[in-house]
Amino acid sequence: MKNKRILITGGLGQVGSYLTERYYENNEITILDNASSSYRDTVPENVNLVIGDIQGPEAVRLVNQADIVIHTAAQIDVNKSFNQPSFDCDTNIQGTLNLLAASKDLNLDKFIYFSSAAVYGDPIKIPVHESHPTEPLSPYGVSKLAGEKYALMYQRAFDLPVVAIRPFNIYSPRQNPLNPYSGVISKFIEHVKSNQSPTIFGDGKQTRDFISVHDIVNLVNLILKSNKVIGKVFNAGTGTQTNINTLSDLVMELIGNELEINYQEARPGDIYHSVADISAAKKLGFKPDLNLKRGLTELI
Ligand code: UD1
Repeated sequence: MKNKRILITGGLGQVGSYLTERYYENNEITILDNASSSYRDTVPENVNLVIGDIQGPEAVRLVNQADIVIHTAAQIDVNKSFNQPSFDCDTNIQGTLNLLAASKDLNLDKFIYFSSAAVYGDPIKIPVHESHPTEPLSPYGVSKLAGEKYALMYQRAFDLPVVAIRPFNIYSPRQNPLNPYSGVISKFIEHVKSNQSPTIFGDGKQTRDFISVHDIVNLVNLILKSNKVIGKVFNAGTGTQTNINTLSDLVMELIGNELEINYQEARPGDIYHSVADISAAKKLGFKPDLNLKRGLTELI
């Protein structure tokens, strides 16, 4: 892709920063980010960084200068969504709606909405297909789903070229282990490196579909190149499940530090098994890296 004006909301974040790196050399990137949970405080020289809110007039102005909008900015903390549901709603629903309304009459190439596997809630059937019922377990899951519903409605009502992605458990070197909401992988690595026992909530037999941020970027790229994706939703996972006990063993093996596991009560509302059906993404040519060991080695 070349010479496109791409607006990346949340461009300083875990996903947005990698998307910026993928596209900035041949395209004109603008980042809109409120710097709330930034992983990056610097961006490449030719990237236009705007610190601001997706709910404000600035967002409308930037959308008007874009060919492509990739909307990754969000309130992503599930706990916070319980403690401050209105804040979560404002950011994830009103913020998304502001961008969609601004996009409605433009001639965008694509509007990519980052949803979440949280929209499914506790799966009744795995692997989880995109047609699986959506019964979120948190305000966060509801707000991500509402944003997705609005986006797809804008596609049907106004022909806005919307595509939605539902990531499963993303890992990347830019996840901050000190953030209480950061994922289990970065927590395990941080603990084992500092010679502390990893904590496992529950029996550790629960499973997750861990996907590298590089695969998320690859899926975005396939979506940007395809003209058969408008109005569709894509799971972003690997299609393989890893149990948490295996994950802790792997992390300890790779770091070379065998420690006792600190088993704690399962987290309330914790999903037991989660794995994506990725047949839809595979039809686009998506081939995620199934070698978690390699991904973990990069992080470590
Ligand atoms: C993940 C997503 C979240 C989404 C949800 C949807 C991340 C960081 N979070 O939550 O956005 O709402 O999927 O399904 O990707 N665990 C431990 N020890 C720890 C930390 C976690 O045993 O120190 C366990 C958890 O109890 C859980 C599993 O590891 O069973 C994964 O936890 P976590 O990485 O926090 O992500 P999810 O809860 O799956």
